[in-house]
Amino acid sequence: MRIFISFFILTTLIFSASSTAASVTTETEQARSIAMQLQQRLGQELKAGIQAGGPRAGIQVCKERAPEIAAELSQQHGIEVGRTALRVRNPNNAPESIHRDVLEDFIDRLADDPNQVPETWVTTDSGERHYLRAIVMQQQCVLCHGKMIGKPVQQALDEFYPDDQATGFAIGDLRGAFLLKFPLTND
Ligand code: HEC
Repeated sequence: MRIFISFFILTTLIFSASSTAASVTTETEQARSIAMQLQQRLGQELKAGIQAGGPRAGIQVCKERAPEIAAELSQQHGIEVGRTALRVRNPNNAPESIHRDVLEDFIDRLADDPNQVPETWVTTDSGERHYLRAIVMQQQCVLCHGKMIGKPVQQALDEFYPDDQATGFAIGDLRGAFLLKFPLTND
């Protein structure tokens, strides 16, 4: 009986230790996977939009679909999914001060190791947990976020985003971050 009980305690301990470790990785993996879904879906629609109707259509796709896809993912996963940046195109994406600090830290981390995409968790004053993952400028982003913006793109940006701050970036720069806000839990 004693042996049975200690065996039971031992297996319980091992099980709970491994399940705690697993839940930590699972949460980051889940967050990462949701961020990747937003990236992929938006990337595909953006590419299709540009192919079908040029950069202006691409901008319209981003304007309409970025918030829609983010809202769909938010509903599907019961969290708030979006993007933020130090310099934003859409003012709705402006960072809170806690995110600003993270974004500034991401710039330093990217400078130290450009091959490692920075990601982190932060806890807000109210106890909400937020996951941020860096979005790095790629070749295909230069069209709308680069240093030399073509005339049709500039015209469309002026029309839809009169307060645009999101040009002037080079490949490899931090463009912004995926931002996932996990609701407060009672445990
Ligand atoms: C065809 C033009 C176009 C291209 C190409 C493009 N974007 Fe954007 N981007 C936009 C528009 C328009 C918005 C504003 C979307 C909105 O209203 O939510 C935006 C918003 C963003 C935001 C959200 C923060 C903000 O400034 O509001 C990030 C981050 C971003 N883009 C990164 C990228 C990256 C990385 C690439 C390349 C993989 C890219 N974009 C390619 C047009 C473009």
